[in-house]
Amino acid sequence: MRLLESLKWRYATKKFDPSQRVNEDDLKKLKEAVQLSVSSYGLQLYKVLIISKRSLKEKLKAASWDQAQITDASHLFVFCNYTERNDSHVDEYIKAISTLQGTPLEKLSVYGDFIKKSLSGMNDTDWHDWSEKQTYLAMSNLLTACAELKIDACPMEGFEPEKYNQILGLDKRGLNACIIAPVGYRSADDHTQFRKKVRKPMTELFETF
Ligand SMILES: Cc1cc2nc3c(=O)[nH]c(=O)nc-3n(C[C@H](O)[C@H](O)[C@H](O)COP(=O)(O)O)c2cc1C
Repeated sequence: MRLLESLKWRYATKKFDPSQRVNEDDLKKLKEAVQLSVSSYGLQLYKVLIISKRSLKEKLKAASWDQAQITDASHLFVFCNYTERNDSHVDEYIKAISTLQGTPLEKLSVYGDFIKKSLSGMNDTDWHDWSEKQTYLAMSNLLTACAELKIDACPMEGFEPEKYNQILGLDKRGLNACIIAPVGYRSADDHTQFRKKVRKPMTELFETF
């Protein structure tokens, strides 16, 4: 299984080679892997910003505990969840199912209402947690796809979401920066790449019945 080899190859990259860029063809594949992520009901209630502009990355680095990956990596993926519930997201989704799968809209209305009811039934904290979780699934697909393409990445929570929201104008759009991942190529002198992976033993991680 090639995927296991890829997962052993990858690591949370601490030092990127700033001279190397991810090409457009690979970028397209990474975007497709993110697009194909699973999500609750299939709603994909998030947006993903891909930032390569140096000046913008400089600003974001200052809001990311000054971690060098932000500016040294080729591209910075910022996964943003929606902060407000909006029935129009569900309506658009139901319309897309109808168009793509050929199901008449009236047959899908019960499903649409069910989703709306279940979302509006959450309290604000649950909604916030739920919508953030969705972005982590998408980020996980990005990391796996990167590994398959021998592209390096680092999942990061070490940043200030409020500052990201302000710098990127996310507040105004009802979005919140939730999790980020710089993507590029490892520097030869990033020593963390040579460290042994630390993972729980199978016997501790799994219980079989
Ligand atoms: C949600 C999340 C947040 C993380 N935040 C950071 C971060 O801010 N900076 C960083 O250098 N690594 C960060 N990491 C990387 C983890 O430390 C790393 O994935 C873990 O130690 C396992 O090592 P490996 O990914 O190299 O196998 C984060 C990982 C995850 C999943």
